[in-house]
Amino acid sequence: MMSSKIGPIILGAVLTLILLNACQRQAVPRADMPLLTDTSLSKGALLSVSCNNCHAKTGLGIPNYSNHSAKRIKKYLTFYKTDTNGTSVMHRMARGLSDEEIALIAGYLEASK
Ligand code: HEC
Repeated sequence: MMSSKIGPIILGAVLTLILLNACQRQAVPRADMPLLTDTSLSKGALLSVSCNNCHAKTGLGIPNYSNHSAKRIKKYLTFYKTDTNGTSVMHRMARGLSDEEIALIAGYLEASK
């Protein structure tokens, strides 16, 4: 009789422990991403950290820009920034960048191929 009530409680406790354990896992930085704690990084490198989360060389189904020239990256970012009707993630990213920041990112990404 009692075991039919205790079963779900034990299951709930075990699932909670598994969930808590999963929440404590540390994010492991990817090898191709510079660390934000490195103060010697240029502004272009720092601005490009967020890009590499999606555009990593390992690829996640997102276009890999590692072979793009600075000119082409600048062209795309300027397009996304100035295309007022766009709602994609890149439009949102680029709208927050100044022209100077776009040039720094493009220069850094080309140099770090
Ligand atoms: C949240 C994920 C995400 C982040 C962060 C991101 N991008 Fe993108 N980017 C995308 C996706 C998705 C596309 C494809 C959009 C499409 O095809 O409409 C794209 C497209 C591009 C393209 C065009 C590539 C091509 O050959 O078609 C360039 C260049 C680019 N991103 C550069 C950047 C730069 C530089 C940054 C950082 C400032 C950045 N992205 C940050 C997801 C992201």
